[in-house]
Amino acid sequence: MSGNLRIDLDRLMGRIFRLGEIGALPDGGVKRLALSDEDKAGRDVVSGWMQDLGLKISIDRIGNVWGIREGADDLSPVMIGSHIDSVATGGLYDGVLGVLAGLEVVETLNEAGVQTRHPLGVGFFTNEEGARFPPDMMGSGVQQCALSLDEMLAVVGIDGKNVAAELERIGYAGDVEPGTLHPACFLEIHVEQGPVLEREAIEIGAVTGVQGIFWSEFVVSGVSNHAGTTPMQLRHDAGIVATRIAAEARAIADDLGPPQVATVGVIEFSPGLVNVIPESAQLTVDLRNTDEAVPQGAQRRLAEAAEGFAAAEGCGLKTRKLARFAPVEFDPAMVDLIADSTETLGYSVTRMPSGAGHDAQMFAPNCPTAMVFVPSKDGLSHNVNEYTAPEEIRAGVDVLLQVALARAQMLENSGETACPEA
Ligand code: GLV
Ligand code: MN
Ligand code: MN
Repeated sequence: MSGNLRIDLDRLMGRIFRLGEIGALPDGGVKRLALSDEDKAGRDVVSGWMQDLGLKISIDRIGNVWGIREGADDLSPVMIGSHIDSVATGGLYDGVLGVLAGLEVVETLNEAGVQTRHPLGVGFFTNEEGARFPPDMMGSGVQQCALSLDEMLAVVGIDGKNVAAELERIGYAGDVEPGTLHPACFLEIHVEQGPVLEREAIEIGAVTGVQGIFWSEFVVSGVSNHAGTTPMQLRHDAGIVATRIAAEARAIADDLGPPQVATVGVIEFSPGLVNVIPESAQLTVDLRNTDEAVPQGAQRRLAEAAEGFAAAEGCGLKTRKLARFAPVEFDPAMVDLIADSTETLGYSVTRMPSGAGHDAQMFAPNCPTAMVFVPSKDGLSHNVNEYTAPEEIRAGVDVLLQVALARAQMLENSGETACPEA
């Protein structure tokens, strides 16, 4: 009977569009940076929905929020989760789909009067994007003890504000300790954020793992001087050093070839005037690869090259690690379950790695974890035009429902934690 259960697409889309009104940008998309006023408003709305659905809500010390639907047995919860923060030019679906799909699964089960053996949990995790406060996956990383709570509370963001103070300000500094969430398994549905499913006309991605992520910040210090009077060989131009580092990041990715990628997402010069040699320059580099060792070599090559460029120009250089996450492999049995459930429902499926970071990767070392991907139109994400058609969402969330149900009826209680003290 449970195999015939289906989600209510209109209800789910209604919630996606309602959340998309919070922090809406004039040309579409959203800006709901972590711990901003808009993030607070989104959190309040989603927490309200959790309450309406009868979930028991917990908030932990890094502001993660999760709601639990009771199970028949004394078992750890099957968790569904993702994030509701966005980048500054975000789409409506990144993260939001994973959280609201979880609520849709709960509401479908509530309506059908299905009681599962395991409790079912739905969570949204603080600052998955890391766009305001690096690193990304901050909340899930703290909850799963891959990141230190104290270090993360002390992080200062791009606007000079601090995580702990902003959590207090928006009223989401909870009291539940890290390491208390031990799911029996973790599931996340997400838009692919890349071109593969659309290009291959496949409805569902059964995600096999997530590539490793290295984020670094370089700050170059030089001497600002007159652009017309200073001979080229006498300059200490922080700007040219920064652009050489940026070009080197691209050259490294080109030399290594796929799957290595490199992105310079921020580059700023100060004072940033047409006729002034930059006194300082700051840039970020995002390096990713599915291999564990290759990006470490890439990171070393970049750091050595950066030192060389700075020395040649007589400039100072400071380098800061913003994020380091090793690649993860998802649980093969969970990946199989997603692929099998997809086929049972009559949809097409491919197994694929994720290029983007996700909260699921922080759970993967501690409990069986996997993800469902649905297509992204034109492969666009971190872009206000991010789009996935409602019918594509229906397919993915129906698969999620079946997988969550199957796992929630299993008797094993495999929740573990990486946290030594918990
Ligand atoms: C998170 O969205 C990331 O992959 O940067
Ligand atoms: Mn996301
Ligand atoms: Mn994102």
